[in-house]
Amino acid sequence: MKTNSNQLIVNAIENGTVLDHIPSKNIFKVIDILKLESGENQVTIGMNLESKTFGKKGIIKIADRFFKDDEIGRIALLAPEATINVIKGYEVVEKKRIEIPEKVVGIARCANPLCVTNHQEIPTVFTTIRDNSKLKLLCHYCEKTTDAEDVLK
Ligand code: CTP
Ligand code: ZN
Repeated sequence: MKTNSNQLIVNAIENGTVLDHIPSKNIFKVIDILKLESGENQVTIGMNLESKTFGKKGIIKIADRFFKDDEIGRIALLAPEATINVIKGYEVVEKKRIEIPEKVVGIARCANPLCVTNHQEIPTVFTTIRDNSKLKLLCHYCEKTTDAEDVLK
């Protein structure tokens, strides 16, 4: 562990996945969405680490676990800037960015109390809009725009 650099404040892993550049405040939501609590894999997390691009970032390291793209896609709303590092034999063998979907159907809730989706059993539909490092969702029904991290059910 290096102590003069924030890079390796959390120990390196031999094999597995490192989810980097996660907003610290969303770390536990990401852990929840990926159901890491119910797994057997060793998980280490870091919060409020210094980041060149973010101010403060969070990091989650999951030993011996490799995610499919659709699993990773589920954290897009919480961590649009995340980097997914695949680690094998202590080396980063692949570095992926999250793919932000153009539309988000059914998984988010519209923040507008008057929106029809809050009164009838219809799935929500949002168009995603990137606003610097923030992700915003434009409701298809009421056209209200909300921060993506505020609309998860
Ligand atoms: N990492 C790890 N175990 C390893 C190798 C890397 O936990 N055996 C972690 C590093 O601590 C870092 C992330 O995986 O948080 C990505 O590693 P690397 O690409 O070497 O770091 P950076 O160049 O800083 O990444 P980026 O440019 O994406 O910020
Ligand atoms: Zn709406």
